[in-house]
Amino acid sequence: MRIAVIGSGYVGLVAAVCFAELGHDVLSVDSDHDKIALLRGGQVPIHERFLPELVNRHRGKRLCFSTSVTEAVDQSDAVFITVGTPQSETGEADLSFVEAVAQEIASAISDFKVIIEKSTVPVRTCESLRKTLLLNGARPDSFSVASNPEFLREGTAVTDFLYPDRLVIGVDDAASASLLSSIYRPLTDGSYYRQESAIPFVGYAHAQAPIIVTDTKSAELIKHASNAFLAMKISFINAVANIAEFVGADIEQVSAGIGSDSRIGTKFLNAGIGYGGSCFPKDVQAFRVVAEHCNYEFGLLTEVIRVNAEQRSRFLKKVRNALWTLRGKRLGVLGLAFKGDTDDIRESPALEIISVLLKEGAYVCAYDPVAIPKAKEVLDTNRIFYATDPYTAASGCDAVLILTEWKQFAQLDLEKLRSVVKHPIVIDGRNLYRPQEMARAGFVYHSIGRPVAIPECMSFDGESDSMHRESAIRFATTG
Ligand SMILES: NC(=O)c1ccc[n+]([C@@H]2O[C@H](COP(=O)([O-])OP(=O)(O)OC[C@H]3O[C@@H](n4cnc5c(N)ncnc54)[C@H](O)[C@@H]3O)[C@@H](O)[C@H]2O)c1
Repeated sequence: MRIAVIGSGYVGLVAAVCFAELGHDVLSVDSDHDKIALLRGGQVPIHERFLPELVNRHRGKRLCFSTSVTEAVDQSDAVFITVGTPQSETGEADLSFVEAVAQEIASAISDFKVIIEKSTVPVRTCESLRKTLLLNGARPDSFSVASNPEFLREGTAVTDFLYPDRLVIGVDDAASASLLSSIYRPLTDGSYYRQESAIPFVGYAHAQAPIIVTDTKSAELIKHASNAFLAMKISFINAVANIAEFVGADIEQVSAGIGSDSRIGTKFLNAGIGYGGSCFPKDVQAFRVVAEHCNYEFGLLTEVIRVNAEQRSRFLKKVRNALWTLRGKRLGVLGLAFKGDTDDIRESPALEIISVLLKEGAYVCAYDPVAIPKAKEVLDTNRIFYATDPYTAASGCDAVLILTEWKQFAQLDLEKLRSVVKHPIVIDGRNLYRPQEMARAGFVYHSIGRPVAIPECMSFDGESDSMHRESAIRFATTG
């Protein structure tokens, strides 16, 4: 199949590369000339596991790059739209990039194409897409429109794409159904998984990817509702964490107890500093506006958003309580990306927290395995420094803050960390450690939804309750 993918960002590039991996001839298009030049030269502009190998495997063979939508439409049977759909000032999805692409596609169509909306969009976008194509001169019999929402997660995008929990295809006609089914056939009949060169998957995966075929409107709703539901799970556990913190329970034990009910499941039940990234914040907002347009007030989503914002403020309060004053304090910050395994900093809770700390007069020395270059573009201040490893970031600091759940931050050499900090205080927004482990290593350890852990040898009697307003437990130190 000849496929064009318009937009070569996190979703578009992964989709283009994976379609080539499935045996299709793919043209990946972006209006960003620098990005296309990089890709043509074999460089990959985002950090994503397996992406460099696959670009290398298919570039110049089944995978080409272009800045021309016209060329892409001309050379393909299926055109996927994967441009951004950011949040507008009113909270709804800004569909101007989708509209611009639709206009370009309309003027380039000569023979029959299926135009597939893969960006996350509000329900009924396929209808607007169809109208825009017609308004801009495409003949009614020269195209059909379909929806194929994407569920990949940054950090595991390639394996998520190739080993999906399910594929969702929203179609209103037989031509789209048949074309989309054949594009994904290597996954749905399992033949891709039997190839020796297939990208490996660790864990449980279906032998054949399940496919759900719906009408276009239902497919569009599935995507928004899925993201809103996941965000709701995160806000729910964060709300419970606040109760756990007050009464001195342990949210990690509570999560495990809740999540082991198979009707609930353990995923997305990690208490922390709230969700971020380029999807959940904007998609929950956009879905709430969709509901408003349907004369339904989705108050549940309003609360999900409120709890999420409050989680940042509560974390900042923890930092202030732990350090008393912030002006002139040096903070070692571990993590800039919105989550582990990605360089994406869009709507990163870490950046939001750092910005407030800097405003309040603190100095920050930050480390992230891959997100530093992107963070440097947005955190413009002379009170932030960047380190080359976690220990340098923590060196001489008044407290260490853990803001992103990178695996390496959960495996720090605590003795080494203890030896470089000025004061042994760790404030962990991701619950990467067991409190007693940290106290035994000599740290005062603040986390989310759990009592503050204090090494037995430190005597700030009464302080934990009056200053931290969090319950505290003492543990004997080792060594
Ligand atoms: N990032 C994710 O984890 C994820 C997951 C599922 C769905 N989505 C959805 O997929 C869509 C894309 O997200 P993303 O993270 O890949 O965005 P992105 O910002 O990384 O990429 C979008 C790309 O589109 C390009 N573009 C914009 N206008 C263009 C035009 N007229 N012609 C050609 N290219 C154009 C931009 O230059 C950019 O490279 C969004 O709707 C998002 O909500 C994202």
